[in-house]
Order: sequence, then structure tokens, then C-alpha cells
Amino acid sequence: MKGLILSGGKGTRLRPITHTSAKQLVPVANKPVLFYGIEAMAAAGIGQIGIIIAPETGAEIRAAVGDGSQFGVTVTYVEQDRPGGLAHASLTAERYLDGDPFVMYLGDNLLQGGITGLVDSFRANRPDALILLTPVDDPQNYGVAELDGDRVMRLVEKPPAPATNLALVGVYMFTAEIHAAARAIEPSARGELEITDAIQYLVDDGKRVEPHIVRGWWKDTGRLDDMLEANRLVLDRIESQIDGELIDSQCDGRVILERGAVLERTTVRGPAIIGAGARICDAYIGPYTAIGEGCEITAAEIEHSILLECSKVQNLEGRMESSLLGRNVTIARGVRQPRAYRFMVGDNSEIGIL
Ligand code: DAU
Repeated sequence: MKGLILSGGKGTRLRPITHTSAKQLVPVANKPVLFYGIEAMAAAGIGQIGIIIAPETGAEIRAAVGDGSQFGVTVTYVEQDRPGGLAHASLTAERYLDGDPFVMYLGDNLLQGGITGLVDSFRANRPDALILLTPVDDPQNYGVAELDGDRVMRLVEKPPAPATNLALVGVYMFTAEIHAAARAIEPSARGELEITDAIQYLVDDGKRVEPHIVRGWWKDTGRLDDMLEANRLVLDRIESQIDGELIDSQCDGRVILERGAVLERTTVRGPAIIGAGARICDAYIGPYTAIGEGCEITAAEIEHSILLECSKVQNLEGRMESSLLGRNVTIARGVRQPRAYRFMVGDNSEIGIL
């Protein structure tokens, strides 16, 4: 069985972060989202993984993942020339998959509990497809399933008036049957070949599509709130590890302080992670915060936030919360008169001022 991770697409919902960077590389608890999927496959014994990349962000993904040896797997990159949809992505990888059954994993999804049990069940029962479902509050944002007992009846992509609250999770198991289905369907209203429609084609064609309800949590990290929530869920399970230095500082609760990170006159209240080489002085870091490598924080309070590498936050009067800062961002209160806000902000940014 092979793995196929979809790491192409456009990432429009996480702009401006994704103007310059692939959304699958935005970190959750200081680790790119994509790595969780690769690790889940490796843990399930899948040693050959194809990664779908887009022309714009492919180089960055290759640089981060390499040949897969850091995960104990062999990675092959498959370039998709345009974001033609999830079924288009699977067709693009048809030659790589070479008739083998495969797990398809959306590179921006996070699934607690991994996929080992599911892969075992797929291998044992040998359906044509195994889909994962979970109840959500906003099914209109996902593929939605209608079941009759444990039979899949209908799958609809992002229906305006969903018939159920059962969302399709972005992890699927397929036999090579899916390729013929992907070739048979037409593009959707958003112009994509939808995997949801391809699976519906299998259902209509009398193929065996097995549903599986996910018990643990699942997150599609495509939007800011989901990204922060995924960060919260992952940090909730960390164990303390202090490899950095504390000077007149304290860490309460579960905190990871990576090598070379320095806290001075600072309190960190976990669960939180402070990346390698970060310097934090006269500050408070609250629960569910992930501070990236090399960040500098002085005289500020930050909670429930994600800061990517080498960002700086200085001299803030109010507490920063529920925020996502990209790489090399600076937020600082100036000392010069007249006192005024001074910004240099990229397209599609959002700044909330108290
Ligand atoms: O997250 C679960 C949902 O994922 C499912 O409920 C939906 O049925 C499914 O269509 C999908 O919906 P999204 O609109 O969230 O998919 P998105 O465009 O965000 O793409 C998912 C991943 O696949 C993302 O990592 C980008 C990648 N991708 C996407 C497209 C359209 C590709 O690699 N190639 C593509 O052509």
C-alpha cells in the first residue's frame, strides 16, 4: 500500500501567510502540519509516499521534507500543473501509484490517533474505498455524507443546505478503482474534479465504499481559527522538556523550551512551546502559544497564538491573543513622538486594535 499526500492547491484562506509559503508548512506546535500526516503514514507502516506539489510552492515543500529519510520513508514528488481538484490530484499521481491501493491524506489535515487502525481495517476488509466521517457544526464547508445504517448513500461537496452534519475527513483509502471514477466525473461548479464526486461514482457503480466514523478530534487547518484550535489540541498533549535557559524566570505547567531559547524575567504558563534560539524578556507567554525559532519578545504578553520563525514583538500595552504571525514579522510600540500607529502590512492582512 502506498501513501499520497496532497500538498498542492492555493491556500487562499490563510493569506497573507500563504502568499509566500505553502499552507501545509504552517506550523502547529512548531511542526509543519504536513509532517503530522507523513508521521501518521510512517507509523502505519507505509514506506512509500508520493507528495503532490504545486509549481509555486513545491520547492519549499521539497526543501522541508527532503527524500523522506528523516521520517524513515521514501518520498517521491509529483507535480500537479494546476489546482484541478482532489480527484485531479489523484489522477496526476496515477503513474506513481501504479495500480496499488493507497491512503490519500490532505496535507492540511490533522487527525488525532493516526491512521494505523484504519489501514489495518482496509487491508482486512478490502473495500474499494474507505472514507472517514465526523460530525461538525458547519457541514456546508465540507464534503457531506448521507448514510443508511453503515451504507453510504450520497456524498455532496460543500452543499449550501447539508442533509446531515457528517463531514468527510481529508483521509481516504482507495483501490485503483478510484482512477476510473476520477476520469468519469465532470468538474464541479468551482471548476474542480472533486474526490467527493468520484467516490459517489463508486457508490453509484455498486462498488463497496466503507464509512468509518472518527472518534478522536480532526482538524482541517485551512483557516485561522482552525489552525489555532489545532495548535491548542496538539499542545494539550505535550510533555514538559526544558532544554533552554531560565534567568529569573519560571515555567508553569507543561512547557517545551527548545535548545538555545532564553527566558529572562519571564513567566511561561503552559501548555506552550518556545522554539530554539528564541529570546523572551520581561514577558508573559500564556497557554496554547507556540513561539517559533529565533523569535524575540520583549515587554509583551502573548496567549493562544502562533508565531512563525524570527518574528519580533516588543513593548505592547495590551495582551496579544488568538493571533498568527508569519515569518520575520515585527510588532513594536515605538518611543518617538507623535504617538501614532505605524504599519507596514502585506495584502490581505488583518489587524485588530483594542
Ligand atoms: O478537509 C476536508 C475537506 O477537504 C473535505 O471535507 C472535502 O470534501 C474536500 O473537498 C476537501 O475540501 P477543501 O476545500 O478543504 O480542500 P482544499 O482545497 O483545502 O484542499 C485540500 C488539500 O489538498 C490541501 O492541502 C491542498 C491540496 N490540493 C488541493 C487541490 C484543490 C492539491 O494538492 N491539489 C488540488 O488540486
